Amino acid sequence: MPQIRFPDTSALDDAVELLRQGRLVAVPTETVYGLAADATNGKAVAEIYAAKGRPSFNPLIAHVYDAEMAARYAHIDDLASLLMERFWPGPLTLVVPKRTSGNLADIVTAGLATVALRSPDHPVPRQLIERLGRPLAAPSANTSGRISPTTAAHVAASLGERVPLILDGGACGIGLESTIIAVADGGIRLLRPGSVSFEELANFAPVSLAAKHDPITAPGQLKSHYAPAKPVRLDATTARDDEFHIGFGEVAGDLNLSVAGSLTEAAAVLFAALHTADASERAAIAVASVPKQGLGLAINDRLHRASTVNDK
Ligand code: TXA
Ligand code: MG
Repeated sequence: MPQIRFPDTSALDDAVELLRQGRLVAVPTETVYGLAADATNGKAVAEIYAAKGRPSFNPLIAHVYDAEMAARYAHIDDLASLLMERFWPGPLTLVVPKRTSGNLADIVTAGLATVALRSPDHPVPRQLIERLGRPLAAPSANTSGRISPTTAAHVAASLGERVPLILDGGACGIGLESTIIAVADGGIRLLRPGSVSFEELANFAPVSLAAKHDPITAPGQLKSHYAPAKPVRLDATTARDDEFHIGFGEVAGDLNLSVAGSLTEAAAVLFAALHTADASERAAIAVASVPKQGLGLAINDRLHRASTVNDK
């Protein structure tokens, strides 16, 4: 099994050393756990794709320390700069034009002319990026097509031997992947909903939704990206005997995302609930309906993907 360690000084030293050697380290972030490699080392990044079994057309997020580091790798216009100032560090990923002079490995962007950048709001990756002095390429630390991990145990269960070190920062505070936007020509295109909401972004510029089948804007948006192994039925007020019922608010369920009906609470435990349901003895999963506004849009996006049958 992989090493799971509390991120004290000695574990962080070892993590930096592994990253310098081109090895992988699983790290907590405020959103979900990431499987990190030095983003300037193509071989190291290739290991990420191999460990995840990820289709290679799916580009990765480069995690930077701050806007200054971002500017070394991408062209940051006024709107992008404003958004970074307002939302970084935090759960907002910006897709912006890549600088050809930057030394990011091509495999990070899967050959695209744009790069996805995010500055994580978590002390562990921040210290690693600062000490390494380079961005960390990191997708969610799970096998491709499966539920994103929000605890070190999820990472170990999904990736096992394929990751030498997992830094255990406890459960992720937000529990949903970052909001991803493309910024261009003074406008924002929402590529993946997340905890930075449509409404918050609309305060800065007009926001449009990504076209469903646009291969360039949303190469990673495979519908079954967040799928548990079992069938998932949505908007379930009640459940059959063979279903594990995930409740919300007044719909109690076997496990409740938030008895109080809080969307923030529900987001933080959503993936853990899907993991629990997937690992249970029941043959299928039923999920109560969750309101479709604010953070509820991101939750419903993940639930919809979870319910889409995996074609693998
Ligand atoms: O919260 C998060 O974003 C987590 C943590 C670890 O930071 N990361 C994460 O990464 O969810 P990942 O690789 O699972 O999802 C990144 C998404 C993919 O759907 C990918 O297609 C998209 O970002 N992406 C990356 N670069 C892109 C680009 N240049 N253009 C469009 N989409 C891009
Ligand atoms: Mg992912």
